Amino acid sequence: MLPNVLQPKEADHVPVLAQEVRECLAVEPGETVVDATFGAGGHAALLAADLRGKGKLIAIDRDPTARTYFEQLAKRTLVNVRLLRGDFGVVLPQLAGNGVHADAILLDLGVSSMQLDRPERGFSYAADAPLDMRMDPTQDISARDVVNTWADRDLATIFRRYGEERYAKQIARAIVRRRREQPFERTGELVDTIKAAIPAPARFGDGHPAKRVFQALRIEVNGELDALANALPAALEMLRPGGRLAVISFHSLEDRIVKRFLRDRERGCTCPPDFPVCVCGHEPELRALQRRPIRPGQAELAANPRAGSARLRAAMKTGAEEA
Ligand SMILES: C[S@@+](CC[C@H](N)C(=O)[O-])C[C@H]1O[C@@H](n2cnc3c(N)ncnc32)[C@H](O)[C@@H]1O
Repeated sequence: MLPNVLQPKEADHVPVLAQEVRECLAVEPGETVVDATFGAGGHAALLAADLRGKGKLIAIDRDPTARTYFEQLAKRTLVNVRLLRGDFGVVLPQLAGNGVHADAILLDLGVSSMQLDRPERGFSYAADAPLDMRMDPTQDISARDVVNTWADRDLATIFRRYGEERYAKQIARAIVRRRREQPFERTGELVDTIKAAIPAPARFGDGHPAKRVFQALRIEVNGELDALANALPAALEMLRPGGRLAVISFHSLEDRIVKRFLRDRERGCTCPPDFPVCVCGHEPELRALQRRPIRPGQAELAANPRAGSARLRAAMKTGAEEA
């Protein structure tokens, strides 16, 4: 019998922009699909269904709890499925380096509802729990280590950079003062320290007062932006000509990395504009499938408020004509 926390339920994670992802990835029978953020397998189940019994699905997730959901999917589908546990920023370059090709690749970034809703994972400011935030619990560094050992200047930098926290400096100083008395062990202690460090009116505006610091710590602990930056070129390398890439991001830092990557790889010639002829010889590698990111509609937002900040960008690898 599985421990209660690992009992998978249908409603564990509602896949965001599910229909839009399917349309962008346009999976056909016989293709190879990579879901690099398997989670509870919501998107993967839909994409596996689109393979209509023929093809391959490679699932990746750094969180070992994904296995339980993967096993459920493996029992239900006729397609060839495989789960690789690890950071997609490492696994995708390894797959690309080994010559593995794909026709459709999905990255649905960030944390899943199962991670957020299980207080023992320490991602949520809404429940008192051990201060952890590791997507991969075997990883050495947790939020507890960052909060208890980093210099206040470095803490302030990540709160500002990854959380856009206005009171970054004040919060960082308060953390360092508090931990001199007693190291932080629990999310609740951090929430109390954040609340006490910011001016009273700021405690009531713009969401929960600890939201931005928790986001910053989560991004830092899991190296989220580096993983994304490493994954995108590898995903492009893996795609066959005509292959599709779809990325769902949940905050502007991620979306900026995706947007710049797509724009750079969509551009052909990189010669300065005053060059009379092209000397670089660069050809566009991708073609964006839409000019603006796709956002959830009213119906989806009403059914799943967590989709609120989701933005989907998708592109197709060029060269299908010559292939
Ligand atoms: C938003 S959830 C994906 C949910 C999934 N699309 C579904 O429908 O169930 C993000 C998942 O990606 C995983 N993840 C995030 N960053 C990762 C990384 N760098 N490498 C591997 N998995 C990662 C998380 O552990 C989480 O399970």
